[in-house]
Amino acid sequence: MDKLFDYNILLIGFMGAGKSTVAGYLEKTYSMDVVEMDQIIAQREGMSIPDIFKIHGEEYFRDLETSLLIEMQSRSNVVISCGGGVPMRERNIKEMKKNGRVVLLTAKPETILERVRDDHNRPLLEGNKTVDYIAELMEKRREKYEAAADITVETDGRTAGEICEEIVDKMHKFISE
Ligand code: S3P
Repeated sequence: MDKLFDYNILLIGFMGAGKSTVAGYLEKTYSMDVVEMDQIIAQREGMSIPDIFKIHGEEYFRDLETSLLIEMQSRSNVVISCGGGVPMRERNIKEMKKNGRVVLLTAKPETILERVRDDHNRPLLEGNKTVDYIAELMEKRREKYEAAADITVETDGRTAGEICEEIVDKMHKFISE
């Protein structure tokens, strides 16, 4: 199959916005390679994300994210599923734009809570799994997410297929503008 895009797609958005699910769907449907930033970082460090936060601290983890984004600039036709905090650094937004096109996935706090409820791999949400906490953190991050995004797609109540269709459609429009 022909390449769908000749650039990388970077998926950004709050924890539980569906980045990994959408990346998996793009991988299956369009034969794109997927880079899961969290997974690569955990693999390379030989420990889970919660352990990296606990042992080395958040700043250390954030530096690894920036290095990985830079490293990915040598790849093409890859879906990069970014950790939810990646766009919080100004520098990362610049590096993302050099990498490819940025797709912001959004969901309501209620939807996020449903999706992350039984997961214990997100240190920032451990002990904070309430709609109010999620809504507050999401609001703090909103401006940066929006500044980084080339296109935005809502995910509430939609299947991965529907979301991907909208991504491809909007991306083609964005490119031809
Ligand atoms: C984080 C999101 C997580 C992970 C880390 C920090 C964040 O990734 O990188 O726990 O700051 O939003 P997901 O968005 O894939 O859950």
